[in-house]
Amino acid sequence: MTKDNFFDNSNLTKMSKSNKSQNKKKAVYPGSFDPITNGHVDIINRGLKVFDDIVIAVLENPKKKPLFTTQERISMIQEIFSDYDNTKVIAFDGLLVEFAKKNSARVVIRGLRAISDFEYEFQMALMNRKLDPDIETFFMTPNLSYSFLSSNLVKEIFMLGGCLKDLVPKGVEKKLKEKFETEHPSLDL
Ligand code: PNS
Repeated sequence: MTKDNFFDNSNLTKMSKSNKSQNKKKAVYPGSFDPITNGHVDIINRGLKVFDDIVIAVLENPKKKPLFTTQERISMIQEIFSDYDNTKVIAFDGLLVEFAKKNSARVVIRGLRAISDFEYEFQMALMNRKLDPDIETFFMTPNLSYSFLSSNLVKEIFMLGGCLKDLVPKGVEKKLKEKFETEHPSLDL
């Protein structure tokens, strides 16, 4: 390398410029979202303070048969974020790391509510790293008032006639009512 090109940083400048345009910080927030809760919404809003774009990845075939179809889960999320231009909702199956790569995201966001979440999340994060060392897992904690909240509890509370105020967005509560009125009318809610 000559002295001249040692000091010539035009390539570097070019590189950082092109990196900048491609380098919008993008993350994937995956989950079953059956249904989305205020805890998920809180994590997404917090995530958007750190990332430019978040792809909300809705798992097509959770191990447990979901109450809502993939399309129903997607529509509920789309409605909540209809005013946002920095979120996208996409269904996925197969490996999460493949989905992240396909969507040009190098970060996976996961919410950690309590220590009890940690073991499973730690295992998943390390396995995803083994599958693709370029993908990082970013853990975020929701507001304390959502630390006990889960989609399963929401469904149970709803079925037992409990109050969902502050736990899910209004649209989700409405969809839960519709679901049980049309598909499970025998349940006296
Ligand atoms: O909301 P959930 O059910 O806790 O989300 C779990 C999810 C969707 C993040 C997880 O099941 C997943 O990543 N599934 C995709 C399959 C995969 O990549 N498995 C290997 C990761 S260890």
